[in-house]
Amino acid sequence: MNVLNFPERKRNHDPLVMVTCYDFTMAAIVADSDVDLILVGDSAAMVVHGHDSTLPVDVDDMATHVRAVKRGAPDKFIVADLPFLSCRKGLGPAMEAVEVLMKAGASAVKIEGIRGQEELVRHIVDSGVPVMGHLGLTPQSVNQLGGFRVQGRSEDERERLKREALDCQAAGCFALVLECVPESLAGEITESLDVVTIGIGAGKDTDGQVLVLQDLLGLSSNFRPKFVRRYLDGRALVLDALDRFAEDVRNEAFPAEAERYAG
Ligand code: KIV
Repeated sequence: MNVLNFPERKRNHDPLVMVTCYDFTMAAIVADSDVDLILVGDSAAMVVHGHDSTLPVDVDDMATHVRAVKRGAPDKFIVADLPFLSCRKGLGPAMEAVEVLMKAGASAVKIEGIRGQEELVRHIVDSGVPVMGHLGLTPQSVNQLGGFRVQGRSEDERERLKREALDCQAAGCFALVLECVPESLAGEITESLDVVTIGIGAGKDTDGQVLVLQDLLGLSSNFRPKFVRRYLDGRALVLDALDRFAEDVRNEAFPAEAERYAG
């Protein structure tokens, strides 16, 4: 998969499948799956590092995750999130952040929001780096948005998001993530664009879907929004394995003879 394949997927109504991934072990599994592309999201701050927002991760943290994912899934298309404020400090620092993530192994970068960033997106694209946009619930703006809540419910917000989606496309984004917006709005935006949309909590009418890997594997204990489908009860399976290991150690059933080195 490369950046040129996205338009034909939209034309052919062939939905794109994206998951987040942050580490080598899981990336190696995703590498063997039918998933199209990987997002090294700044959700790493919450999912991997246990923060209550995406704000605390920086470019170096993201680069560490990108390098690990690239080692595990060298042939997948990897999108790396530009973390909080990394592209709001002027063109120079923004391009340095882009450079770090691309040299770490990303195939593209993702930027939240478009207002005030149109020129920057154009410059990144003109520099040879594909940019994925991200509108709707943009978690880096959680303090401005007053929490993690559905966006685009009022007529004003709908119009603004529709305009911003066109602005993302005009600035050169090859794809657009739509997060937590009403299905009808995501559908209208998807119709209005030539570039692909990838939804999370945005209904069925986008050109693709993305989920956080730990959510779809059922590994997160306290995060169950209605848009997540759990394909595995991962937490229960891991807990069971850990408890059986603990039991075997306490009963001296582990290690067995075949698990020991003689001599
Ligand atoms: O960081 C992330 O995981 C994301 C997805 C929710 C789209 O941006």
